[in-house]
Amino acid sequence: MAGKAKSVIVGLDIGTTKTCAVVGELTEQGVSIIGIGSHPSEGLRRGVVVNIESTVEGIRRAVEEAERISGCQIRSVFAGVAGAHIQGQNSLGIVAVKGREVDHEDVKRAIEAAKAVAIPLDREIIHTLPQSYTVDTQEGVRMPVGMSGVRLEAKVHMVTGSVASIQNVVKSVNRVGLDIQGIVLEQLASSLAALGEDEKDLGVALLDIGGGTTDIAVFTEGSIRHTAVLPVGGSYITSDIATGLRTPAAEAEKIKLKYGCAYPPLISKDETIEVPSVGGREPREVSRQILGRIIEARVEEILMMAQKEIVRSGYDDHLAAGVVLTGGTALLEGITELAERVFNVPVRRGCPQDVVGLADIVNSPMYATGVGLVVFGGMEAIKQQRSFKGKGQVIDRAVDRMKRWILDNF
Ligand SMILES: Nc1ncnc2c1ncn2[C@@H]1O[C@H](COP(=O)(O)OP(=O)(O)OP(=O)(O)O)[C@@H](O)[C@H]1O
Ligand SMILES: [Mg+2]
Repeated sequence: MAGKAKSVIVGLDIGTTKTCAVVGELTEQGVSIIGIGSHPSEGLRRGVVVNIESTVEGIRRAVEEAERISGCQIRSVFAGVAGAHIQGQNSLGIVAVKGREVDHEDVKRAIEAAKAVAIPLDREIIHTLPQSYTVDTQEGVRMPVGMSGVRLEAKVHMVTGSVASIQNVVKSVNRVGLDIQGIVLEQLASSLAALGEDEKDLGVALLDIGGGTTDIAVFTEGSIRHTAVLPVGGSYITSDIATGLRTPAAEAEKIKLKYGCAYPPLISKDETIEVPSVGGREPREVSRQILGRIIEARVEEILMMAQKEIVRSGYDDHLAAGVVLTGGTALLEGITELAERVFNVPVRRGCPQDVVGLADIVNSPMYATGVGLVVFGGMEAIKQQRSFKGKGQVIDRAVDRMKRWILDNF
């Protein structure tokens, strides 16, 4: 692979419809995006690799393009993972504080203790994300280090996935000659790119509605509380349009992108669209309202499934900052209006925030995961830098947002 070797962070979002490589650098101003490459994915179904060869091809093409644009040689990546095999669970770890004052070692032991739950052999832990700590009787502590006490309790959110599904992602990336620096839950990445700290504090649900999956992450009081992946996404909308309007799938996709609207009240009554027919028949004029109703029905179903999942998590009454939509399907006209009707809270689209460089190119809900993977990689780099330089080292001013996340999570 071409280009000069440079210390860069690469996010590889292997989605159901596209594979996207995002190249970033940590700068004074934050994460700077210096290259991006995207190629259609053929080897995944509902977020899971089902054909290694096709997945490898998608990765190779996306990475080559990203190398060309950034002028960098890509050697390792932070790869996203999704699919219905992903499960999130909350867990508790309790330890005795050795020196009567909590130190980093105690925190580490408490988190390790929380991880000591029975996990089936065919599953592995992807993330252990601390939520809050209790020191003796004081609950809801975010940073326990330095506090006096004899007992430390860590509440964590653990994300697990099927070993085989994760291995297929690793295998596909390795086949391209790249190393994996980290495997990251896709909606965690999207939330790093698209959510503000204030939203996470108030309570927010992120829905990343891609082509094959809808990935959910719920945050309250600044911490992740619930994660889930639903095996439904934008390709269902496309097949509904193909069936409903009796048109080939490729045409249905074009119609969706050009005229699609999930909220029929936004469509004027007399608007019509031309729909190509199948079997060599003449194209037909169809009311755009009809297209809107087909889309509305499916999107409403997806959103209601997500809502059910959030209700199941018990955090549905804690979403003061509402819902944020990412993923390509979030680009659909009228989807925020429809989602407000379903969830009854404010809804906005989430684009990558606080990035510089090629910020205008990645300024789409579709790139939230890819950019978020770079942000995650940046945090890992800072974390390592911090452990090199020791405690109390001043972390780059420009990455304040990350600093807070690191302090909260590691
Ligand atoms: N302007 C648009 N209007 C409606 N839908 C859109 C638009 N642009 C993209 N999409 C849809 O978004 C989906 C792709 O989104 P995205 O790139 O986030 O998915 P992915 O990451 O490949 O898949 P997944 O995350 O589900 O594995 C496709 O179904 C596509 O049709
Ligand atoms: Mg995706």
